[in-house]
Amino acid sequence: MLNNPLVEVKHLQKTVSAHSGLIKILSDINFAIYTKETIAILGASGSGKSSLLSIMAGLDPEYEGSVHLFGQELKDLSEDQRSALRKNDVGFVFQSFLLIPELSAFQNICLPLEISGNINPQTLEFAKSLLTRIGLSERANHFSNTLSGGEQQRIALARAFISKPKILFLDEPTGSLDTENGKRVIELLFELNQDFDTTIVMVTHDTEVSQQCDRVLTLKAGSLVL
Ligand SMILES: Nc1ncnc2c1ncn2[C@@H]1O[C@H](COP(=O)(O)OP(=O)(O)OP(=O)(O)O)[C@@H](O)[C@H]1O
Ligand SMILES: [Mg+2]
Repeated sequence: MLNNPLVEVKHLQKTVSAHSGLIKILSDINFAIYTKETIAILGASGSGKSSLLSIMAGLDPEYEGSVHLFGQELKDLSEDQRSALRKNDVGFVFQSFLLIPELSAFQNICLPLEISGNINPQTLEFAKSLLTRIGLSERANHFSNTLSGGEQQRIALARAFISKPKILFLDEPTGSLDTENGKRVIELLFELNQDFDTTIVMVTHDTEVSQQCDRVLTLKAGSLVL
């Protein structure tokens, strides 16, 4: 591809200290991700998928090797610089959804807009349309801690998408959904990818989902399987 990669990972290694000493949880990982690609990350539990996702999204600067996001080496940036980079252009859906329990479904979705000072009639309208797209318009005013796991996961997805990020990282976005709702979330993701050119990088255990993606990266014990 001719354009610059959004993410470029070179000789990435991550070592953590455990009771037994230092353990390497990611080793010599190399790949690049380009605009509008859809990438699935597969691998057994403990293979390093969430760790890799956190590093790429600028949430964990403790690594060796090089990881560029939008052309910037993440470990060279300050916490403030990394959060500025993330604020508008990066969305993240965590394995545990991390919704704010005291806020309603709608307020959770709008939280990034609130933080970046972008609440206006257009963005509120977009938030409403996302709520409808995830099938939860009737739950708009319910506190998020009263929602089911699957409902919370859909709210987390809408919240990650509210700022129309250039790249969206998702850690098992259908992990707690039944087949029908899982399908709905995946359809929504691919629609957003088409409508807004959002690059999608998702950890999944679902091979049907990974087959719909442009590319699959498979991790095995911290290494990329070629
Ligand atoms: N901060 C840490 N300290 C010690 N070990 C860690 C740390 N972070 C991750 N690990 C270990 O690194 C390995 C990879 O963890 P990671 O969460 O990336 O796996 P995963 O592929 O996402 O697994 P799962 O599918 O179960 O979510 C695991 O063995 C985990 O215990
Ligand atoms: Mg994980």
